[in-house]
Amino acid sequence: MAVQTSSSADFTELPVVPAGTFTAPLRRPAHIGEDWLEPQQRSYDSDEDAIWNDLFARQMEILPGRACSAFMAGLDMLDLGRGGVPEFGLLSQELTRLTGWQVVPVPMLIPDHVFFWHLANRRFPAGNFIRTRETFDYVQEPDVFHDVFGHVPLLTDPVFADYMQAYGKAGWTALQRNRLKALGALYWYTVEFGLIREEAGLRIYGAGILSGPREAVFSLEAQSPNRLMLSVDRAMRTDYVIDDLQPTYFVIDSFADLYHQTVERDFGDIYDSLPPGFTYANSAVIDTDHVLHRGTQEYHLCGGRGSDAAPV
Ligand SMILES: [Fe+2]
Repeated sequence: MAVQTSSSADFTELPVVPAGTFTAPLRRPAHIGEDWLEPQQRSYDSDEDAIWNDLFARQMEILPGRACSAFMAGLDMLDLGRGGVPEFGLLSQELTRLTGWQVVPVPMLIPDHVFFWHLANRRFPAGNFIRTRETFDYVQEPDVFHDVFGHVPLLTDPVFADYMQAYGKAGWTALQRNRLKALGALYWYTVEFGLIREEAGLRIYGAGILSGPREAVFSLEAQSPNRLMLSVDRAMRTDYVIDDLQPTYFVIDSFADLYHQTVERDFGDIYDSLPPGFTYANSAVIDTDHVLHRGTQEYHLCGGRGSDAAPV
């Protein structure tokens, strides 16, 4: 990923966003500072702890044999199934020991530049709130279950942990070069919806898949979606779906493979050659793709979310 060249390269303090750079217009709550951190993690009542426990139990029926081995090992190492919403302080203690990461509470979705800054400092911002029974199956904003259950276990993996930090640093460069959309697509197709090839077969490492029951099955077993080996240039030019199952998944061979393809590469040439929008539709398969499975796209052709299309 392109190297940070400004004077704020060490990221000890929140770098100043250059004038004219687009940042999402999020309204910062009055009690929150520039770093967007909550003074402390909130305390959860017994109903909220029960929601965590039920979500956890539901995923554990589905994920063994589908989630990648590093994720399952991370769940264990951090003891995320001990009952109730995990304490970020305890998670941070354990993560600090393992890979030097921390989990820090934020009130809501935070601006990209602040998110990148935290990642660059090996701090993972996690939503403080938990979904309700009414929104048990789907929340639009990432809550504590998505963030902690979905993302945090992989921060125990040293190579993935380094990738996340490098991503944060690269985010600042992308922001300054107005290429956030492309870098966002890379995040989407790796950190949120990535698959990995293990000896026993394809497995999931993307948090967006791991934190819900439906896509965990669909991404690996359905005939509809494409499964393509990850090419970073290709993924950065590819549109994606934000509120439905993905038409395409990109697959890596290992976290070292992901690291080599991204962190050890300067994105300057990609950024220079990118058109303003995405080049490829989210369901496209192109000549240069290494195709593991060419999807039928039946689910999306039948209407996708909101229709009665089966996720086949
Ligand atoms: Fe996420």
